[in-house]
Amino acid sequence: MGTDIAIRSVRADDLKRLAALHALCFEEAWDAASLARLLAMPGAFAFLAAPDPANDNPEALPLGFILARVGGGEAEILTIGVDPAARGREIGRRLLETAASAAVAAGADALFLEVAEDNAAALRLYERFGFYLVGMRPAYYTRGAARVAARTLKCDLPSLPPVS
Ligand SMILES: CC(C)(COP(=O)(O)OP(=O)(O)OC[C@H]1O[C@@H](n2cnc3c(N)ncnc32)[C@H](O)[C@@H]1OP(=O)(O)O)[C@@H](O)C(=O)NCCC(=O)NCCS
Repeated sequence: MGTDIAIRSVRADDLKRLAALHALCFEEAWDAASLARLLAMPGAFAFLAAPDPANDNPEALPLGFILARVGGGEAEILTIGVDPAARGREIGRRLLETAASAAVAAGADALFLEVAEDNAAALRLYERFGFYLVGMRPAYYTRGAARVAARTLKCDLPSLPPVS
């Protein structure tokens, strides 16, 4: 599954298409300028899943994206999303793997994220990946008039082999 998909670093000319994909994934959309500001933060990096690496059509929306930040020996997933039409094809897992590798290469030994406790698909993805619960933030997200808690999850990252 997913062999026709390439994960690659996000470029400045991807940001408009990334914003369009973000709007498909989240109620609270981040525009291209907000994404650019996030990516300009120290230690920030992002990857996207490109649908056809042999013919990287600049007009086609990416299938998924992940935005993360590394600093002080730890990394944090800021956001991850996959096109609703492409979910369940392990694109999310591949994006997480790529971000985790980049975090290790940048010196991080742990990866953190926050997830709403009613987000079953994301929780499944993270638990299968090796994330575990380290904290709770009650009433953190809004769902109309209701509030939902956030779980803070951690994944221990492997250390890089020593340079010989
Ligand atoms: C979370 C998300 C990125 C996962 O992307 P994906 O490409 O579908 O992920 P994968 O295919 O690698 O894995 C998804 C897992 O969740 C499972 N899943 C999918 N929908 C599910 C649901 N409604 N309930 C429970 N599990 C579900 C899949 O079966 C799969 O688990 P499996 O490997 O045991 O079969 C995607 O659902 C998404 O973009 N959601 C909206 C944005 C979001 O919530 N982001 C996370 C914010 S913290």
